[in-house]
Amino acid sequence: MLLIGPDDGDRRRSHIALASRGREVAAVDSAEAAARWLVANRCDLIVAPAAAVAAVRPLGLPVLAVAPARDVAAAVRALDDGAIDCVLQPLDEAAVALALHRVARLAPAREPAASRGGDGERGLARLVGASAAMQVLRATIARVAQHRSTVLITGESGTGKELVARAIHDASPRAARPFVAINCAAIPGPLLESELFGHVRGAFTDAVRDRAGLFEEADGGTLFLDEVGELPLALQVKLLRAIQESEVRRVGGSENIKVDVRLIAATLRDLPEAIRAGRFREDLYYRLAVLPVEVAPLRERREDVAALVACFADRHRQRHGHAARFTDDAIAALAAQPWPGNVRELENAVERALVLTEHDVIDAAALAAHLRVPAGAPDQPPVAAPADDDDALSIKKATRQLEEELIRRALEATGGNRTTAARLLEISHRALLYKIKEFGL
Ligand SMILES: Nc1ncnc2c1ncn2[C@@H]1O[C@H](COP(=O)(O)OP(=O)(O)OP(=O)(O)O)[C@@H](O)[C@H]1O
Ligand SMILES: [Mg+2]
Repeated sequence: MLLIGPDDGDRRRSHIALASRGREVAAVDSAEAAARWLVANRCDLIVAPAAAVAAVRPLGLPVLAVAPARDVAAAVRALDDGAIDCVLQPLDEAAVALALHRVARLAPAREPAASRGGDGERGLARLVGASAAMQVLRATIARVAQHRSTVLITGESGTGKELVARAIHDASPRAARPFVAINCAAIPGPLLESELFGHVRGAFTDAVRDRAGLFEEADGGTLFLDEVGELPLALQVKLLRAIQESEVRRVGGSENIKVDVRLIAATLRDLPEAIRAGRFREDLYYRLAVLPVEVAPLRERREDVAALVACFADRHRQRHGHAARFTDDAIAALAAQPWPGNVRELENAVERALVLTEHDVIDAAALAAHLRVPAGAPDQPPVAAPADDDDALSIKKATRQLEEELIRRALEATGGNRTTAARLLEISHRALLYKIKEFGL
């Protein structure tokens, strides 16, 4: 059990009351310190001041709140923020005993780390981070989840756009219905149309039978169009019509099929810029961006790094039975990195350090060795910018190069195993095959 709060008389009294139940109690003074402590320690319950519940919830553990004497409003707020239960000060043994009993019955999992970030965990709980930016994001997710309008999620690569899309679905009234995702960049145009809208038998050479598209599959639920900025113009028209009419027509078909689908789109492109360049339809943009959601790059919320590292280390511990502990200076070094690949890059770096280390502790020096990035290195592009000056600012070219390089490395690391490589790259097997062919790897 971990007790959080400033080291004062209240915390000391809470400590005594909790420890009197024969439980092991550790104490730290802030949510951030808790995240660091959790990297190396097991814990089944966090006890935190009512006001701190929102900040510690993202750690993914059950929270018991402690509210000031007679402050029922604070207690209610703590419960709304996700505390399992709340006790009022002054803590006495009986009240604590009762609360611990209730918590034990209500806590979702005995070893919370097992489900943290795993597929079993849903919605907002998977989004780690207590920075101001993340709190705004959570509030936005909760709000837009209640509506049916289309959401457009923007943010750099690896910031968690897909996680956000799932969180919106999970927090929405459609949570029990399907969440269907498609990456528009990974599938060539002609195939994409039939993926989205389905086809009838004979529509093209390989169409040996009728097939429903993803719109129909997502009926009643949510369809997530990832990398929507890559959608070919001809398909943009068809998508617009599907949104406006709430109906689709299978490729080669003549019948209009009614669908009830909530659309969430995501892109790392600057769509207004794509509109000016004539690559994206303005009318579709306004249809998609009814509810815009922006995910901040990791370098603008460095205070989330500690909690993210704790979460990733925990996941590693679940899989491998152990995980080295990151020292404070290692976490500080990680927090200082530019992270152009955002959370995904941090996740990979933590995983790599944990796999490569032979020690129980990873400090800044060990980290520098594993990451090949000196602590506090200046911002560096992940790959060399294209030599041609005209292309130096092309996101498209740089992204392509980065993709090619990452795929090459993933194939190397897996000895050419495409299934494992696809998993490492977090793209579908099919998308990988397509890209291997496209890049001629
Ligand atoms: N706030 C977060 N808490 C925990 N994990 C996160 C968070 N944000 C991102 N991740 C993890 O980082 C990785 C990248 O996230 P995700 O795939 O959602 O990013 P993305 O914005 O869709 O990236 P891309 O534009 O490259 O597709 C995933 O493994 C995801 O679980
Ligand atoms: Mg994505």
